[in-house]
Amino acid sequence: MNQVLDQPIRSPKSQIVHSDHRESSPRESHQSHTPTSEVVVRTEDLTIRYGNFAAVRNVTLDLLAHQVSAIIGPSGCGKSTLLRAINRMNEFVPGTSVEGRLLYRGRHVYDSDCDPVELRRRIGMVFQKPNPFPKSIFKNVAWGPMINGYRGNIGDLVERSLKQAALWDEVKDKLHDSAYALSGGQQQRLCIARAVALEPDVLLMDEPCSALDPIATARIEDLIDALKKRYTVVLVTHNMQQAARVSDRTAFLYMGELIEVNDTNTIFTKPGNQRTQDYITGRFG
Ligand SMILES: Nc1ncnc2c1ncn2[C@@H]1O[C@H](COP(=O)(O)OP(=O)(O)OP(=O)(O)O)[C@@H](O)[C@H]1O
Ligand SMILES: [Mg+2]
Repeated sequence: MNQVLDQPIRSPKSQIVHSDHRESSPRESHQSHTPTSEVVVRTEDLTIRYGNFAAVRNVTLDLLAHQVSAIIGPSGCGKSTLLRAINRMNEFVPGTSVEGRLLYRGRHVYDSDCDPVELRRRIGMVFQKPNPFPKSIFKNVAWGPMINGYRGNIGDLVERSLKQAALWDEVKDKLHDSAYALSGGQQQRLCIARAVALEPDVLLMDEPCSALDPIATARIEDLIDALKKRYTVVLVTHNMQQAARVSDRTAFLYMGELIEVNDTNTIFTKPGNQRTQDYITGRFG
C-alpha cells in the first residue's frame, strides 16, 4: 500500500481503496467495522502537540468518501485540533507539532513536498462563526477561484456555488451587495459557497451551526446532507442530535484519544465503550 506515498498529490480521480487496512496499524482495533468504502483521509497513530501538551493522542481514523463523518466529544478533547491538522491549518498556530501519519488519498500531507496551499484548495474549511470577507456576495465566492487562476466563466461558477450552498434564490438579485448585509445563517451558507467554489474534495466543518438559530441550523443540516453527494464531509459538533441526524459515521474523542468510531447508528444505540455511553447519555461533557 505504501508505494502510493511516493506519488505526488493527484486529482481526486486517482483514488486508493483500502479494503483491508487492519494490518498496518495496531490502533486499528478502535474501528469495530472495517470500512469497505474508499478512504479519503486517514490518520495513523497521529499525535498533535501544542508545545509539550499532546492535545490529540495516537489517533487512527479513516474518513470515507461521500460520507459525513462526525467528530464528537467534550470541550477541549481535541476535535478542532484534529480537524485543523487534516489540511495543515494547525501550522498557523505557533508551537504545534505532529507525529504519526496523516494521509490524504494515500499521500502523507506532512511530507515536505506536499504543497499546503494546494492541499487547502482540495480540503476546504468552514468555521464556527461565519467569516465572510468585507466584500460583495459575488466577490466572496469569486475571489478564491480568481486568485487560483480560474479560467472558466466566473459568473457561472458563482451561480453554481451559490446554488450548491442553497443560497442562490435568496441572493441572486443582490449579488453586489455587501456580504455583511446577510443574516448569520445566510453568511454561513455564503462561506460554504466560498469553500465549494474552489471545487474541493473534502469539506471540514467546525461546529458550523453553533452561531445559528434552529431554522438556520436545519437549513445547514439539509445542505450538509446534499453536499456529501459531491464531497467528503467532516463535521465537528457539540450537538449530538445533529451528529445523529446528519452523519454516517461518528468518532468519539475524549481527552485527546479516539475512544470509539463506528457507524452513527451504532454509536448512538449500542456504543462499545462505557465512556461513549456516558457522553451520549449526557453524564458528562
Ligand atoms: N493554540 C493553542 N495552544 C495551546 N493549547 C491549545 C491551543 N489550542 C487548543 N489547545 C488545547 O488543546 C486541547 C484541545 O483543544 P481543541 O480546541 O482542539 O478542543 P475542542 O475539542 O475543539 O474543544 P471545543 O469543543 O471547546 O471547541 C485543549 O486542552 C486546548 O486547551
Ligand atoms: Mg473546537
